[in-house]
Parts: sequence; C-alpha cells; structure tokens
Amino acid sequence: TDAEKIKLGDGKDVKGTRVRVFGRVHRERRQKDLMFITLRDGYGQMQVIFSGPLAKTYDALTLTRETSMEIAGTLMKVPEGAHAPNSRELHADYFKIHAGWKAAGGEEAITNRVSKGTEQATLLDLRHLTLRGETASKVMIVRDAVEFAFNTVYKELRMRKVSPPALVQTQVEGGSTLFKLDYYTEEAYLTQSSQLYLETCLPSMGDVYCIEKSFRAEKSLTRRHLAEYSHVEAELDFITFDDLLSHLEHVMCRVLEVTLADPTIKQHILDLNPGFKMPERPFMRMKYSDAIDWLIKNEIINEETKEPHKFGDDIAEAAERKMTDIINKPIFLTHFPAEIKSFYMMRDKEDPRVTESVDCLMPGVGEIVGGSMRIFDYDELMAGYARENIDPTAYYWYTDQRKYGSSPHGGYGLGLERFLAWLCEQHTVRDCCLYPRYFGRCKP
Ligand code: 4AD
Ligand code: MG
Repeated sequence: TDAEKIKLGDGKDVKGTRVRVFGRVHRERRQKDLMFITLRDGYGQMQVIFSGPLAKTYDALTLTRETSMEIAGTLMKVPEGAHAPNSRELHADYFKIHAGWKAAGGEEAITNRVSKGTEQATLLDLRHLTLRGETASKVMIVRDAVEFAFNTVYKELRMRKVSPPALVQTQVEGGSTLFKLDYYTEEAYLTQSSQLYLETCLPSMGDVYCIEKSFRAEKSLTRRHLAEYSHVEAELDFITFDDLLSHLEHVMCRVLEVTLADPTIKQHILDLNPGFKMPERPFMRMKYSDAIDWLIKNEIINEETKEPHKFGDDIAEAAERKMTDIINKPIFLTHFPAEIKSFYMMRDKEDPRVTESVDCLMPGVGEIVGGSMRIFDYDELMAGYARENIDPTAYYWYTDQRKYGSSPHGGYGLGLERFLAWLCEQHTVRDCCLYPRYFGRCKP
C-alpha cells in the first residue's frame, strides 16, 4: 500500500487519513463480529478495529498477544464516550503477519500480565520480556530523557563531556567494593568513579562532566545498590563549597525542568509517580553534626551498635532513609567527618574534624549524590593517602595535579538509577536500569 507509514503516537491530527502502522499486539478482545487490538510500538499505542471478513481470517482468529503486525487503515475519532489512546482508532482494511512475526502464545510472562505472586527472581530472569511491560518501558523512556537532559544542562553551563577509562589501577571509594581483574597479568579494577580522571581535565578543558558506568562489588542486597550503575559526575574549577552546592541545586532542578518540558515524558512521569512535585529551592541544608542530633532527638538508633548515634558514626541506609522520609524534601547533608569519607576530601577551615562534603538525600531513596571540595595541597593529600592506608605510587598522576598549578576545585557524582527511583517512584534501583547487575545476578 502507498499509505503513509507512521509511529503509533504520531499524527494526532490526521483523522480521516489512511496510514500504515507496524507494532506488536498489546491487548486484543472480540465483540460480536468485531476484533479490537491495542497495538504498541515504542512511541505509543493505537486502538485498531477489524470488522467484516478481515476479522474472520485465519490469522485474525488465531491472533496471539505480542505478535508483530503490519496494518493499514483509516484513522477515525473514537465515538463519544468511548476511550482509546489519543481518542482515535484505526479502522483496518488490510493487515499482514509476515513470516516469523507470530508470537508463540503464552506471553502471560510479560509484565503487567504477570500474576501478582510471581517471584522477583523469575521476573528478573525474564527481564528481556518484562521490559515490554508498560511500567518498565516508561521508566526506560524517562531514563533516556533524563540522560539527555543532563547533557543539555551541562552544555548550557558550557561544560565539556569526557570519557574516562573503566579499567583502572586506582580505587576512589575504598578497597572493599573493588572488582579486581587480571589485566595482562597486572592487577587492575573496574572503576568505582571517574572523579580522579575528571580532575586531571580541569587545567586544559575547563569544567567537565561524564556519564559513565561505575562498578562496586557491593555484597549486600538492598533497594539502592547495584554492582554496575550509571554515574553522572562533574568537576568544577576555581570554586568554593557554596558554589558547588548552588551548582548542584541548579543542575538537579534544571534537569527536571528540561525533562518535564516534553509532554510525553511528563505524562510518563506522572503515570509512574502521580504525586510528583518539583522540589522547592533552596534545598534544605543540614550539617552532619545536626543530623546526628536530629537522629538522637527522634530516637533513631545506630543499627550497628544498637545505641544512639554519636559524632563520627556512619549514618546507615535505614537511618538516613527514615530521616529523609520524615523531613520529606531534598536535603543537602554537609560537613561529614574526614574519618568516614574518602582520602581526597578537603577539610573545613573552621572545623578541621569535618570536610567540605555533601550528600544530597531524596525522600524514598536517601543519598542520590555524593560530592566534595578536593584537597589541592600536596602535603594534605599525602596525609589523606596515609590515613586511608593507600600506597600513593599508583596515584602519581593524581598527585601530580598538586604539583603543576593546583586550584580550589570540587565535584560530585550522582547515581542515575537512584535519581530515577526517586523521580519515577520506583521501589528499587533495579527497576531503573535495563539489565540490573547486583550481588548474585549477571544475567540476562
Ligand atoms: O558517594 P559516592 O561513592 O561518591 C563517589 O563515587 C565520588 N567519587 C563521586 C564524585 O565526587 N565524582 O557515589 C556517588 C553516587 C551516590 O550518591 C549514589 O547515588 C551512587 O553514586 N552510587 C550507587 N548507585 C547504585 N549502586 C551503587 N552501588 C552505588 N554506589 C554509589
Ligand atoms: Mg556516598
């Protein structure tokens, strides 16, 4: 046929025109001599009506969900009171199921049709099929838009994108979560963070960012830990800690604005998270020491020691989330003690026990960003390595930055899956990546 080929969400105002569409059968039902199909492609859904002899062909009578179809017909407005995507339906006059396009039946495994009790593990084994479900596909489509928005916003800020290596010989966030590998007989790791490499770009490229995979050999099963995740990292030159916080707040809000500017994406977000509200600026700022006091006052104990929190404690995931859920808005938690943070963090001038560091916490998820000002003095950095028992040899290139024109600089890393878990109100970060990797899972 010579009818125009359109995507299922397109051509909203072409009622009365003849079009050709391709997609998969999302749903089908019969009513007397009519057959109704909801056809799906990655751009939308369309209701298609088959009537007369077309509804009685062998292929129509044996049609299974997920079968791929080519259909031609005329777009019409749906009758008053009836509901269909985009308030229209396609009156088919031709269809073809080409060789190999038929689905084998039994597609109930596909999400949204999976019975409530289906085991998480089974669903994850079937990720290649559950990705076809409405929720999973919406989250993935929002993810694409968010990633694009980060690029847009960083470009607005004249920041340059770089692509640091994934195979490295230095750790960034502690030895306990390193994936080690045999690199032509040398020891190497999968990168935990691109931060150190971003820092080396500042002298010649200006402010930089990257969106790369980071890897953590996390041995616990939680809602927010993956072994492989997408890390949005940025590094800014000649700034103060306050500049870092304002930048971060701007980027997060502007990314949301840019993402929501697309009506399809906005609708997906509202479908997934009906209560979504833009966070209010400025974000609440809370010092670590005040958070400890807050936890004591609210009788949230340290799960590890079974005692009230005290200065110097790591605030564990559960306590952090309780606090964030009660406060129920974004929090910049700042000034963590040096001892519970990484070797590179700048100390606070006024209170050298603590660092110029920040975690951004979101309701429902907790920490989604970690950042800090970086030590830019050579001797202080040496002391940092020593405190963390790091042999500086492999870090010669990072240390060199402190010898050749050092500068006050800082940056952060944002976990893309955690940002999405918050934005799309998903229970776990596992539902925010295409094929999640975590303790015990490396398939499909
Ligand atoms: O707090 P983290 O460990 O900080 C860094 O890696 C810094 N070097 C980043 C920087 O300053 N450039 O990790 C940053 C963020 C966390 O706040 C969290 O959102 C995410 O990365 N993240 C994880 N996301 C999923 N699974 C994991 N196992 C994660 N570990 C960290
Ligand atoms: Mg952190």
